[in-house]
Amino acid sequence: MRECVIVDGMRTANARAHAEKGWFRNVSVDTMLNAVYNALFERNPQVRPEDVEAVFCGTANQAGVQNDIARLGWLAGGYPESVPTNGIGQQCPSGMAATEHAARAIMCGEGDIYIASGVEDMQKVPMAFAMEFPAKLAERYNPAELPMGATAEKVAKQYKVSRVDQENMAYWSHKKAFEATLAGKFKAEIVPLEGEKEDGTKFLVDRDQWIRESISMEKMAAMDPAFDPENGVVTAATSSPLTAGAAALLLMSRDKADELGLSYHLKYVRGVMAGCDPTMMGIGPIPAARKLLERSGLTVKDIDVWELNEAFGSQSLACVRELGIAENAPFDNLNVWGGALALGHPLGESGVRILVTLNNIMKTDYKDAKYGVAMLCGGFGNANASLWQNVNK
Ligand SMILES: CC(C)(COP(=O)(O)OP(=O)(O)OC[C@H]1O[C@@H](n2cnc3c(N)ncnc32)[C@H](O)[C@@H]1OP(=O)(O)O)[C@@H](O)C(=O)NCCC(=O)NCCS
Repeated sequence: MRECVIVDGMRTANARAHAEKGWFRNVSVDTMLNAVYNALFERNPQVRPEDVEAVFCGTANQAGVQNDIARLGWLAGGYPESVPTNGIGQQCPSGMAATEHAARAIMCGEGDIYIASGVEDMQKVPMAFAMEFPAKLAERYNPAELPMGATAEKVAKQYKVSRVDQENMAYWSHKKAFEATLAGKFKAEIVPLEGEKEDGTKFLVDRDQWIRESISMEKMAAMDPAFDPENGVVTAATSSPLTAGAAALLLMSRDKADELGLSYHLKYVRGVMAGCDPTMMGIGPIPAARKLLERSGLTVKDIDVWELNEAFGSQSLACVRELGIAENAPFDNLNVWGGALALGHPLGESGVRILVTLNNIMKTDYKDAKYGVAMLCGGFGNANASLWQNVNK
């Protein structure tokens, strides 16, 4: 099998998906996606768009302006018709699934150069837009337990994750993300894109909108539960916010990257999918990470850096505790530059975003580290995890 390496990765900033306050509220989904593709081609002039074998693009809700955005976005960007595209839909792991499809195609020798991307604007296409559950599903599951917020509450109860522990996690997620932003850590991955402030002033958006410079445990403690007014322990502060953003990776066979004189730091080892009870969808990374480690002959201790998508504080804490990574935030080697509670979670984008960030963390703060794992849960009980290795180790 051939080796697949990450040559580069870019993303837009993540903006609130909010009709009045979102910095990208008047930016189209294809504009976000193409800003990222353009940046990748500009930064890697050895690669021409026509040399790309195929583009895989993850989007959770493929409806409205996101209907086949993989193809329509590519064409709208003026890129060659000869390059095929494949829209991947797997709820939140869509972007990671796109990456794994591309990596496997490279390893099998089906092609040399692929783009794996993800995009979502949760304001323009709201979660579960035009969704209808199969009637028979209601015979198996209580439909009231299937929405994401309900699953976060159920996981909090079953895994005994307290509200204060979730708030402590949100606190550290924002703190790490703010400090990483201040230190310019995201400069290598965020392509500035014009958006507008709440008052309508245009500006170049080059930082994630949701990150709070100061976050108060007292204020969080006073917030109302978001999903269960009576007994809920999950709030807007301990949920990933509704977000808009795009991200993309340029993946290549190692031989092709060498031939083109392109550098790289990480190679793909393997990816796995795992399924779980959809009413507890947030715990999916537990079986996914276990499967991944077992098949790789590794243990939790062998992994130097973790990226876990913070869909909710409750499910993230249940995962890190069950896996034995950590008990509580601040985590040492997990979500080193913050997570989705602060950075946002544009569903189909996040699986790519956490890999773009993992690559940059491992190229800078953890450059001597050997292994990195990225993982995320997904609506209705699908989860993905992938293992990446420093090519020099
Ligand atoms: C939780 C949720 C329902 C809240 O949505 P919402 O009611 O529209 O609320 P917002 O996110 O706009 O936040 C409400 C307010 O709380 C504030 N807030 C959030 N976190 C805060 C914090 N840590 N401290 C102080 N205020 C905070 C917000 O700033 C906002 O006020 P503003 O508009 O004046 O800025 C929504 O974010 C959600 O559904 N998240 C989960 C998304 C999801 O399921 N993703 C898939 C996961 S698998």
